[in-house]
Amino acid sequence: MTSDNTRLRIAIQKSGRLSKECQQLLKGCGVKLNIREQRLIAHAENMPIDLLLVRDDDIPGLVMDGVVDLGVVGENVLEETLMERQAQGEAAEFNVLKRLDFGGCRLSLAVAQDADYPDVKSLEGKRIATSYPWLLKRFMDKQGVKFKSVMLNGSVEVAPRAGVADAICDLVSTGATLEANGLVEADVIFRSKAVLIQSAAELPLAKQAVIDKLLPRIQGLQQARE
Ligand code: PRP
Ligand code: ZN
Ligand code: MG
Repeated sequence: MTSDNTRLRIAIQKSGRLSKECQQLLKGCGVKLNIREQRLIAHAENMPIDLLLVRDDDIPGLVMDGVVDLGVVGENVLEETLMERQAQGEAAEFNVLKRLDFGGCRLSLAVAQDADYPDVKSLEGKRIATSYPWLLKRFMDKQGVKFKSVMLNGSVEVAPRAGVADAICDLVSTGATLEANGLVEADVIFRSKAVLIQSAAELPLAKQAVIDKLLPRIQGLQQARE
């Protein structure tokens, strides 16, 4: 990885729901990218921009630590990281530059199709598998329901069948993953879209100038799609 600190650094998801649309967004802004598989970094050919292709879960931290200047990430991952960092007394500052018009999803509780679920109180004392323990805990505390959190970074939807948990709390977009695993959405606990965030650190003028060029273009692209 180069450490040319005059080029604007933007972190986007390497592969997943947001990656295609992030790349298209930059392309739509006139940023010429040459993204090669297996590469963590891509240099724009026509603008002083370097792209970091990483796991979405790492993006909020990279921005909050000032490792990158900008990041595109789901509000779900952003809010989860924020809560975790605040609880641990770690740096958690950033600015939201723009709420984007893609990456829509919801973080939901889901249970087996044949489960008896009149309401969230039926999860009292149960084990819930999730990658979002802080968002889940905030919701359950508000509902006054005690539960046991089972932290899983992936394949959360398999947990009930595997006997590891009684319910799950995971992202739902089309609902195909839940259906394929014999689960039904029970309660929505957080609604999310992709957002463009900026590090709280003051930027050199040259980098700020690039952001000032990108933002109206993003605005224009979104308006054209409305
Ligand atoms: C989420 C979630 C499911 C899937 C649900 O993962 O964990 O696997 O999307 O989508 P569906 O309702 O359209 O089937 P995602 O890829 O967003 O996040 P991750 O890569 O960080 O796990
Ligand atoms: Zn992820
Ligand atoms: Mg997933």
